[in-house]
Amino acid sequence: MTQLDYAALSDGKPVKIAVDGVAVCVVRVGDEVFAINDTCSHSDASLSEGEVSGFKIECWLHGAEFDLRTGDALTPPATSAVAKYDVTNDGALVTIHAAAAKK
Ligand code: FES
Repeated sequence: MTQLDYAALSDGKPVKIAVDGVAVCVVRVGDEVFAINDTCSHSDASLSEGEVSGFKIECWLHGAEFDLRTGDALTPPATSAVAKYDVTNDGALVTIHAAAAKK
């Protein structure tokens, strides 16, 4: 697992962190925090460099969108989900848990 300060997360601004050596994209949406694998399932771009809109993040390279809540691919060219990580947030500290549930 990896922890970071909740206060360091800006709404809708992705942050790339390492969780047990894996790049993970962490996004705060309102007062919720989501974490998905940072590597786009289409062609290896970094999703944390993409644009967030509501609960979606758009890959900067070819425009595939993923659901931050589930990791699901929502639009082509990506056709498979990225792993989603469980997050706990006590309002001060955000914990990204290592067990990714790949769909
Ligand atoms: S690398 Fe992300 S959509 Fe192509």
